[in-house]
Amino acid sequence: MNFQNEIIKWYKLNKRDLPWRSTTDAYVIWLSEIILQQTRVEQGLPYFNKFLQHFPKVEDFANASETHVLKLWQGLGYYSRGRNMLFTAKQVMELHGGIFPVKYDELIKLKGIGEYTAAAISSFANNQSKAVVDGNVFRVLSRYFGVEEPINSTLGKKEFTELAQSLIEDQQPSLYNQAIMEFGALQCKPKSPLCSICPLRLNCFAFKHNKVDILPLKLKK
Ligand code: ADE
Repeated sequence: MNFQNEIIKWYKLNKRDLPWRSTTDAYVIWLSEIILQQTRVEQGLPYFNKFLQHFPKVEDFANASETHVLKLWQGLGYYSRGRNMLFTAKQVMELHGGIFPVKYDELIKLKGIGEYTAAAISSFANNQSKAVVDGNVFRVLSRYFGVEEPINSTLGKKEFTELAQSLIEDQQPSLYNQAIMEFGALQCKPKSPLCSICPLRLNCFAFKHNKVDILPLKLKK
């Protein structure tokens, strides 16, 4: 079985039941992805529910006051995320008539939406074939395929992005992207990864070469 099918098989057996996985509403997915930037799932989950309750539609978010948004955001940190979200919600009203875009090329133009978030929304909401590349993906790809280029070097970013994109071709984009992130979060963890019970270990470069603890490489800047 190839890497992608192993990952998807693992995911079906081990995935957490998370609310943003059962929707294709781009607004809801955007909400979850921004909240989960720099925030763990357990911490972000109650905020996700709270924001959705107060602002069920992007229109509701766009009409909120900054004070209200920041009050709801309290405790999450990185308050610029909350402020940027209000700006983005207004952009969606003005530029897209309140319909949250689902195409990568449109998403990437919005404030606060970078390559990762645009790939996440376009794949989860629209099944667009765009690979997400976040910390989880860097780690899994680096270890399994033996990519030893630093993840924060120019060359490294290019190499990881190209490898990630090549792997998603011919897959179900939404399923595969969720699967590799979840695999990185729960199995191929930064510290104490669960190699002894990992279904991918026999073909894993880092496991075979005893490099699990040193990959991925990161340049000190
Ligand atoms: N972290 C960032 N995005 C996520 C997602 N869609 N599911 C679980 N964890 C995540």
